[in-house]
Amino acid sequence: MSAKQWIRITYAKDIPLREGRAVSVGNREIAIFNLGDRFVAIDSRCPHRGGPLSDGIVSGTAVVCPLHGWRLSLENGQGLSPASSGHCVSSFPTRVEEGVVLVELPEAHGPGKRAQGAAETGPGDSRQWSIPLEAMDEAWAAQE
Ligand code: FES
Repeated sequence: MSAKQWIRITYAKDIPLREGRAVSVGNREIAIFNLGDRFVAIDSRCPHRGGPLSDGIVSGTAVVCPLHGWRLSLENGQGLSPASSGHCVSSFPTRVEEGVVLVELPEAHGPGKRAQGAAETGPGDSRQWSIPLEAMDEAWAAQE
């Protein structure tokens, strides 16, 4: 069993209600959604043809892929529509601490796994964020 780590992603207020945001953490792209009473996180690439699930329409506790309409659970990543049944994406535990959303990821995607060509940007107004972990750790450390 691989070790896991909690990664601080962004302020909860930066993810609008019933919307998703894509975050590149290390070498993994994750979609984080604000369901109002909680945040949920799944792999951002649709298992059909890699569509951006973070841009999908949130319907209840599911997301509808913007490319061809596959419906996937935001709670466990399982396919919910006839076409997506039997397919799934990974889902990840989340929590909010002092207004900051954290996601628990396998350690294999941790520090030192910076995405190639990742922009040196952090959370902001964009719908997609790229978080080089070393920079993120420094940014949060500076605030503490
Ligand atoms: S890529 Fe998501 S439904 Fe086709």
